[in-house]
Amino acid sequence: MKGGNLRDSDRGIAVSGLRVLVAASEVVGFAKTGGLADVVGALPRALARRGHQVAIVMPYYSAIRRAGLPVEKTGVVLPVPLGDRVLACRLLRSRLPHANVPVYLVEHPPYFERDDGSGRGLYQQAMSGGYKSDYPDNAERFVFFSRAVLETVPHIGFTPDVIHANDWQTGLVPVYLNELYRSRAGYQRTRSVFTIHNIAYQGIFGREVMRLTNLPGWLFSPHLLEFHGYLNFLKAGIVAADAVNTVSPTYAREIQTPEFGCGLEGLLWQLRGKLSGIVNGVDYDQWDPGIDPHLAAKYTPDTVAKNKPACKADLQRKFSLPEDTTTPILGMVARLVSQKGIDLVLSAAPGFLDLGCQLVFLGDGDPEYHDELKGFQARHPDRVGLYLGFNEGIAHKIEAGSDLFLMPSRYEPCGLNQIYSLRYGTPPVVRSTGGLADTIVNATEENLSAGTATGFAFDAYTANALYETVKWALNLYRDRPDDFAQVVRTAMVQDWSWDRSAIEYEALYQKVSG
Ligand code: ADP
Ligand code: GLC
Repeated sequence: MKGGNLRDSDRGIAVSGLRVLVAASEVVGFAKTGGLADVVGALPRALARRGHQVAIVMPYYSAIRRAGLPVEKTGVVLPVPLGDRVLACRLLRSRLPHANVPVYLVEHPPYFERDDGSGRGLYQQAMSGGYKSDYPDNAERFVFFSRAVLETVPHIGFTPDVIHANDWQTGLVPVYLNELYRSRAGYQRTRSVFTIHNIAYQGIFGREVMRLTNLPGWLFSPHLLEFHGYLNFLKAGIVAADAVNTVSPTYAREIQTPEFGCGLEGLLWQLRGKLSGIVNGVDYDQWDPGIDPHLAAKYTPDTVAKNKPACKADLQRKFSLPEDTTTPILGMVARLVSQKGIDLVLSAAPGFLDLGCQLVFLGDGDPEYHDELKGFQARHPDRVGLYLGFNEGIAHKIEAGSDLFLMPSRYEPCGLNQIYSLRYGTPPVVRSTGGLADTIVNATEENLSAGTATGFAFDAYTANALYETVKWALNLYRDRPDDFAQVVRTAMVQDWSWDRSAIEYEALYQKVSG
């Protein structure tokens, strides 16, 4: 599909389809470490609903085999060149649940059969002392995968108009398309879109990795793939893709500045003509308290006041906290990394206890945060609940059972948890940055009177600013219950479904392929 009347503009419905191949290193339901998986699991479904033909390609991790998902053989063996070797790997096929979207799985056990629950994950392994360390062969693993994406193209049953690559793990995909595949039949009209989900993770490796890529050596130059003497996969994707986007308009602006750009701000400023921001959507089939199977009681905007307390009591029981509906619960679900503002929460936490709150944390990440949270919980076992690890069910229970959701991120490209908490009627307390600034309307007096407030926001990255904002939120919660209920209701009726974001991706795909 190229240009033309893609959309029936009266109804905003796609009337003829684009063909899109989405490449990513994680997809929810198959393998997940964070929001990238949620996005890649949901956007293709929304695009398919709009009449587009979409397929996904990802590595075949052992987690997928263990999950017992329906996986079929395709009979295809891909030859994947890697330096002076050619690796043969099987292509398997599964499907996104409840959608006509095939998920192609690239099998190569030496690279991907290692996430095994014993501390070995998708990208990192646990070391002694609880530290996590990147696998030493990550460059090789994702050079291989990126090359395999291009080799998959002839076997997906359509010629893609767009290959949509995501984050550093697939940063080389647009480069391969331009440099090694463009002249081949079946690739000539294909364009590339590259999404930056988090610019702090760039995939930076020694220059010797160039040999593994089989790309021409001249690409290793500062205005192309080189970054201060190293090979940078994220930079490669940014330079080579026909369009680059990130996951909110504010983050798209922020990454053009030294404070947020992680060294790529100058490049992004230069390339701003092809850079845009599209806020992620939410998969309301997974994240809606009206149908969520993880909850003790289901609720809608009309039944929230009646039924949410049962979810709160369930959460208190789960974490062995005193069951008391009048005690406000502050909840947090996050990768425990500096991005998420855990240091602010830890500094402000004694103050939250003084304000009479219970706190509940779910997270996994840096061992120093694990230790500090463990220490804090041990000192206040009847006030603080803590689960260190990854647990989908508890994430849902915290969204529903808390009264406020904490997300004071240092930076946040989009953030999904705050959007989930809107739907769960658990107003988020956020720092105004990136997608948090784009999705939350602060409960100022003005916004409260206008009935537009959906959460609580602050600017300065300080524990005091966080504390004061929580205090203000608790003021409303305790002393102005009608206003708080109004915030809850306004939050719950926001529509951040993928359908709206999918329309923006559709326009971007059209623009590059038009
Ligand atoms: P990020 O991708 O930076 O981690 P997002 O807010 O975009 O942040 O997405 C995080 C996703 O990962 C959400 O779906 C959240 O529920 C989930 N998540 C994060 N940590 C955990 C955890 N420890 N257990 C379960 N789910 C988690
Ligand atoms: C990244 C970001 C997060 C975003 C997610 C999905 O992990 O940290 O803000 O929501 O990607 O795009």
